[in-house]
Amino acid sequence: PPATKGPVIGFSQATTLEPWRILFNEELRAEAAKHPEVTVLIADANDSVDKQVADMEGFIQRKVNAILITPKESAQLTPVVIKAADAGIPVFVLDRNVETDRITQFIGGDNRAIGAAAGTYAVKLLGGPGKAQGTVFEVWGGMKTKPSRDRHDGFYDVVSREPGIRFAGTPVDCDWKQHLAYEAMVQVLEKEPKIDLVYAHNDPMAYGAYLAARDEGRAQGIAFLGIDGIPSEGVRWVRDGVLSATFLYKTPGDEGLRQALRHLAGQPIEKTITLPTQVIDKAKAEEILAGRRDLP
Ligand code: FRU
Repeated sequence: PPATKGPVIGFSQATTLEPWRILFNEELRAEAAKHPEVTVLIADANDSVDKQVADMEGFIQRKVNAILITPKESAQLTPVVIKAADAGIPVFVLDRNVETDRITQFIGGDNRAIGAAAGTYAVKLLGGPGKAQGTVFEVWGGMKTKPSRDRHDGFYDVVSREPGIRFAGTPVDCDWKQHLAYEAMVQVLEKEPKIDLVYAHNDPMAYGAYLAARDEGRAQGIAFLGIDGIPSEGVRWVRDGVLSATFLYKTPGDEGLRQALRHLAGQPIEKTITLPTQVIDKAKAEEILAGRRDLP
């Protein structure tokens, strides 16, 4: 263990293959830099559930003072979270929840509400409540993750009330990846003469679906909705007219570390922290980027 008097915190990150998670890590590191007495060990599971379980085992063996985890999938990471709790290590679960309440805290967005907001936006774009018409293609993130399920459920709750809206294709697990969404969109475009709206569970997949439609000469007339709203991608794509809107899904890294430190200092914390969301349309995107001239 490092020669430090302060707490050692293990952070298990599912992957850093997506800009959202790179930003997540940056914010966590920036927060950690404010506390030189704290040691943060970051393990990147590289999108592998097995590696993430092993990373967690490593933290437990090392008897870290607290663990932050943002799981690749829910069910398969649940046992090792329980194991950490059994070892007396407080576990803070960020973004994708697990299937046990033996955690110290969950921090994340309200994905069901985000899905419902996207559904309401879709209905508006397709003609308004009671009058909406069109074919929707939904691009799923990771089907074994809670955010994907909730983003689907929230959207479906709203959109299924519209008899004029139908869903195209069969649900495919695109694992949050742009290139897999591209492929799924190519498939569905082959079968469907007309698609009016694409709802993707994150911005990279909305962008991948857009690229597929553009390459087939069919992007015009399709509205694309995404989720995440980070300045370097979703917000720019909305400003540039590639996406109609995105919905903010705040990165939880800095808040996660603050909460863990509060807990280790013996202060009371909530069991759940719900991070805020907002719709980012073109006007909002321009406003956000006007204050961010530092972006590439
Ligand atoms: C990044 C990401 C985000 C998404 C979140 C859901 O890995 O796919 O784009 O909002 O995870 O857990």
